[in-house]
Amino acid sequence: MKGIVLAGGLGARLRPLTAVTNKHLLPVYDKPMIYYPVRTLVNAGITDIMIVTGGNSAGDFLKLLKNGRDFGLKHLNYTYQEGEGGIAAALSLCEDFADTDPVCVVLGDNIIEGNIRAQVASYRRQGGGAKILLKRVPDPQRFGVPALDGRRVVRIEEKPAEPKSDYAVVGIYMYDAEVFRIIKTLKPSQRDELEITDVNNAYVARGAMTWDELEGWWSDAGTFESLLRASRLVAATGANKLDMDGAKPEEEVLNAAGA
Ligand code: G1P
Repeated sequence: MKGIVLAGGLGARLRPLTAVTNKHLLPVYDKPMIYYPVRTLVNAGITDIMIVTGGNSAGDFLKLLKNGRDFGLKHLNYTYQEGEGGIAAALSLCEDFADTDPVCVVLGDNIIEGNIRAQVASYRRQGGGAKILLKRVPDPQRFGVPALDGRRVVRIEEKPAEPKSDYAVVGIYMYDAEVFRIIKTLKPSQRDELEITDVNNAYVARGAMTWDELEGWWSDAGTFESLLRASRLVAATGANKLDMDGAKPEEEVLNAAGA
């Protein structure tokens, strides 16, 4: 399985922090944001990793991450996304890199307390199709939100005004090589992007989508509020832990951190 970190985009919701640099280079407590999604993949045993970047300061990723020594890697792959085509467009740049292997895609601003080893192992056993990770949140309308029928995903809606569940679709996705064929069939959404939610709904329509619930806290970091929250959560408990024994419920961590 190969790993992909999507770290492009203009970070418009974080201006002026992103006026001269890339969102994923901003600090989350004591590390640049990009460190956390790379660690998420490495902790799951995925060491063949592509970083997709773009926009401002793309060259700084090379200077910062080099060949991945801070993560125990010997090599990292990089590619450049021109313009703002959306998450699925960024992913499409990885077709040659993936070759015919399955991929685990992590959005560069998604930070997790724990690790995804068990979910990656369960996806491998699944032997094809796709898997998403879900997390209960108080504000699902900010995210992709699934309608569920027990273990079955009925449909995913992107930022719905009236969410059909209190789950958010976490920005960590597992796909087989079909994903690149699916992306070629997508049409741009209202915000003129190729949406990852449309990719996921294509797998749902084929009956090839599974989901697992993510353990431990999860935060995106693409808005001022969530960037601050992510920093406070990391400061309070650390991120990307391999051992989740003794992990506290998210509310308890947030209360203790005042986040
Ligand atoms: C993206 C996805 C959304 C997902 C979220 C997770 O939203 O489109 O489905 O729930 O990431 O962070 P964005 O933050 O790019 O608007």
